[in-house]
Amino acid sequence: MQKIVLSMGVVFATTVSAICFSEAAIAQGSADGKKIFLDQKCNSCHSITAQGIPVKQVEGEEKNEKDPPDLSALGLERNADWIAKYLMKKESIKGEKHPKKFKGNEADLTAISQYLEAQKTKPKK
Ligand code: HEC
Repeated sequence: MQKIVLSMGVVFATTVSAICFSEAAIAQGSADGKKIFLDQKCNSCHSITAQGIPVKQVEGEEKNEKDPPDLSALGLERNADWIAKYLMKKESIKGEKHPKKFKGNEADLTAISQYLEAQKTKPKK
């Protein structure tokens, strides 16, 4: 009996560590921009439908009176350089700056801007 419990423990531990390792690998890879997008709660206003990211109303975050666009096709119009500036309120759309200034560091800003530039899914109409 003890032997069975022990071997079950080994199997369990192996499975858990395998899952953890594969998740760490994903987080380090190209999913970085997505992680920052979610960490910075951009999804409290914006969806990226093509990436399976819906708008999620976050408690304590103000709701936007304007209509924040879905960002699935952003890269068809904007490049990473423009996006980074816009997120730092150094660029505007029709004279209007982004409602939120980016709060992460320089590396995060670059990663999220490149991630958003890579969003080139044409909306289905
Ligand atoms: C409080 C709501 C809110 C949050 C939070 C927010 N945004 Fe926005 N965002 C908007 C609105 C509203 C617009 C449209 C502004 C306009 O058209 O003048 C916009 C526009 C944009 C655009 C330009 C889209 C275009 O059509 O070119 C980008 C890119 C963008 N947001 C990225 C982000 C990122 C990245 C984050 C997280 C760091 C974020 N936003 C967080 C409300 C928000």
